Amino acid sequence: MASLPSIAFAPLGDAPAGGVLVVLAGEDGRIAESLGEAVLALVKKAASIAKFKGRSLSVLDIVAPSEVAVDRLLVVGTHGKEAPREEDWLKLGGLIASKVKGGASVTLRCQLADGAALEPRLAALIGAGALLRAYDFDRYKTQSSKKDEEGETPKLPGTITLAVGDVEAARAAFAVEEAVAAGTMLARDLVNEPANVLGPVEYAERIQELARHGIDVEVLGEPELKALKMNALLGVAQGSPRPPRLVIMRWNGGPDDEAPVAFVGKGVVFDTGGISIKPAGSMEDMKGDMGGSAAVVGVMRALAGRNAKVNAVGIVGLVENAVDGKAQRPGDIVTAMSGTTIEVLNTDAEGRLVLADALWYCQDRFKPKFMVNLATLTGAIIVALGHHHAGLFSNNDELAERLLSAGKTSGEKLWRMPLGPEYDKMIEGKFADIKNIGGRAGGSITAAQLLQRFVNDVPWAHLDIAGTAMGSPANEYNQSWASGYGVRLLNQLVADHYQSA
Ligand code: BES
Ligand code: MN
Ligand code: ZN
Repeated sequence: MASLPSIAFAPLGDAPAGGVLVVLAGEDGRIAESLGEAVLALVKKAASIAKFKGRSLSVLDIVAPSEVAVDRLLVVGTHGKEAPREEDWLKLGGLIASKVKGGASVTLRCQLADGAALEPRLAALIGAGALLRAYDFDRYKTQSSKKDEEGETPKLPGTITLAVGDVEAARAAFAVEEAVAAGTMLARDLVNEPANVLGPVEYAERIQELARHGIDVEVLGEPELKALKMNALLGVAQGSPRPPRLVIMRWNGGPDDEAPVAFVGKGVVFDTGGISIKPAGSMEDMKGDMGGSAAVVGVMRALAGRNAKVNAVGIVGLVENAVDGKAQRPGDIVTAMSGTTIEVLNTDAEGRLVLADALWYCQDRFKPKFMVNLATLTGAIIVALGHHHAGLFSNNDELAERLLSAGKTSGEKLWRMPLGPEYDKMIEGKFADIKNIGGRAGGSITAAQLLQRFVNDVPWAHLDIAGTAMGSPANEYNQSWASGYGVRLLNQLVADHYQSA
């Protein structure tokens, strides 16, 4: 993996020598007076020539003259119509990392134009943004193919020193944000990994490595899944020589007697469509059909890494939807763990079958406060929302509102979609209780209705992340095909509402 810059801390009072100095600018390109006459005059002149107005994420790049103690001054705007949200500080960190190459050392003064030191948490987010920007899935690139046009290995900053008001507070805040970023990067790694490397068995083994961080990991194999009567999940897996796994992760950071929060993920390591096979174009993207499960694994890693005071359960159903002589056929009827019978009319609507059993198992065993499931469930959600919002479906307004708000804070945005009896009727079965497709109209909604049949009366939300988990547009803090969408969102949900301290 590409090496990440290291993040260091220093007091704002220290004068940096050499390297790149980054300063933050407010309205009209104003910077803190404490930077001294020489720098103030230089920035003022450069800003007027370059028409730099301090607009959020705009950059004024100055090669420093000899009377200034650094090599280069990077002035970054923070001024916008609205007050910056948490995500804007991540973007700022990512932007700064992208402007500095060749392993140079960077000192960033975390100080606003009015001279006030930036809050420790915001400084920490800048650091995390730089890490997320530096992430590059280059495991399978040999050294020679990593070189850029000039024959150099492209590199981000070597060290970023955050000059802050309170070093200890900023360090503590960064430890938290670093854990969350590690969760996001773990999710990205899992999604980027090709399916020949990451089958259900290998995936489960990777999850077991989380034991290192204090997470309890239990892996159920075929015999256990059969004993539990998870025939909906097993039916999807039966066309692949690679056996399925159900992995249960537990992080017990809260009081013993407190009900857990629960996250459930679709982990289809590759989705060929099965007998209802997909067309060849872009089928390779279906290595990412485990993006929901990757977000669940990532958020568990984040919660454990920051020692969150919460009890959390993560459950992922890992299968390959492949085609062989034993593959499930259209028309087959399976009895899910809940006892509900399902007519499988299209073997490509497989994610909902996997989740049906995982959701039922989750509420049955853990009696959670709520369940949030994530899945790259439907192409229809991409048609509806594009790549900038995930679809949110919920049976509970309070949970839905909390998720929407966590989405705004984290920048992993959601858009609420409807559920209702009219849509539920569309999946009534001809030969069984329900069928696994509802026709062309409202394809994301009928998929969500199927899931709702398996949540009992637990507060529940389904996030359809087909448009946001992978192939979404790059931004300041993500250049990777796999975005790691969901980790920061769910971590925020827990931090805002479900932590005891
Ligand atoms: N994994 C796909 C959904 C998907 C599509 C994810 C594109 C990411 C990008 C899912 O299993 C699927 O195939 N859904 C079908 C459902 C249909 C058969 C009712 C779809 O969306 O076409
Ligand atoms: Mn499918
Ligand atoms: Zn799928």
